[in-house]
Amino acid sequence: MPQAVLQFRDVLKRYGDYTAVDRLSFELAAGEFFTLLGPSGCGKTTTLRLVAGLEDPDDGDILLNGAPIAAPRRGILVPPDKRQMGMVFQSYAIWPHMTVFENVAFPLRVRGEANDVLKKKVVDALELVGLGGLHERGATSLSGGQQQRVALARALAYTPTILLLDEPLSNLDAKLREQMRFELRALQRRLNLTVLYVTHDQTEAMTLSDRIAVMRQGKIEQLGNAVEIYERPASAFVGDFLGRTVVLEGAVKKIDQQLALQFRDGERLIVGENHNGKFSDGDSIRVVCRPEDVRILPDGPVDATEIKARVHEVAYLGDHLEYTVDACGRSIVVLAGKTERYAPGAAIRLVFDPARLTLLQVES
Ligand SMILES: Nc1ncnc2c1ncn2[C@@H]1O[C@H](COP(=O)(O)OP(=O)(O)OP(=O)(O)O)[C@@H](O)[C@H]1O
Ligand SMILES: [Mg+2]
Repeated sequence: MPQAVLQFRDVLKRYGDYTAVDRLSFELAAGEFFTLLGPSGCGKTTTLRLVAGLEDPDDGDILLNGAPIAAPRRGILVPPDKRQMGMVFQSYAIWPHMTVFENVAFPLRVRGEANDVLKKKVVDALELVGLGGLHERGATSLSGGQQQRVALARALAYTPTILLLDEPLSNLDAKLREQMRFELRALQRRLNLTVLYVTHDQTEAMTLSDRIAVMRQGKIEQLGNAVEIYERPASAFVGDFLGRTVVLEGAVKKIDQQLALQFRDGERLIVGENHNGKFSDGDSIRVVCRPEDVRILPDGPVDATEIKARVHEVAYLGDHLEYTVDACGRSIVVLAGKTERYAPGAAIRLVFDPARLTLLQVES
């Protein structure tokens, strides 16, 4: 990796007794779109505010292009205006008494930008976010989505070292959000922006990011690209958070070169190869995959990668069907095409592809 633009080293932030950011470490490369993804309260906004200098860490180091900007042990705290960050806040914080143009221009005026340069930057940024015709509008007369785009234009016009975006699309309707997502990604690529993005929306994270850090209680639970974290979740928390998952539980049973999952009733399913010695006979494990990775077959003799199941419920979702089925003593949701019809109560088989299964040791 080239020199990191931003480095977090064991960064700690407490509010009273509460640890909001818990010895967090990660690096952001130049031109990277990096997303912090996690549930409400996991410390995403706090992390962004630490980068911007709006909060000071209690311990650890934050480095920008290799130089410390916050290192409490060494008494270093670079003030926000010296960090050159552009931030779009979760509440987008635009100034109601100013026009759209003045909102975007304000940080540039503070920076002492020459008038002609400033004008061009503001006009370009507003064009980029699709607000070209609204320069003179009062900020309060805009819709929530438009205000959010003003905030984005303001951050862009500032040409920041790192663009910090806190749920910047959350107030847009579904269609506009999708369009803005696409445009934001294109813009980031074109301008080679380094972006630290915050969201709790997994689709947004997966479609925008080069890398995603899944956060939980102030820590990173898993760091990787979208495919890695979706298909190989490091924990049940990550798997659940990223979308619906099929979970099977049982004990490990080694059979020659293969690893089987043995259920309580003695039924077995081949779940992988037994080559890395990670599991021993009798270990409790959890096997995780995606609903779309399980296939349904009509009743019949089961082979080693299949289990017996019974349809409990069927939901028609337009382009596909969602089956809730009972198998191995639990309820599982699987997806199927519209041509595969089974009525509630029907006996079926579920087919698992061992290559698409993730095996996790059950924490005791
Ligand atoms: N100024 C503060 N004083 C006390 N506690 C705070 C303060 N700011 C944040 N917290 C707490 O720290 C934790 C992390 O907050 P943070 O705003 O970083 O979460 P978040 O991941 O951005 O959540 P959301 O998705 O809801 O925006 C929360 O439990 C929050 O209540
Ligand atoms: Mg937040």
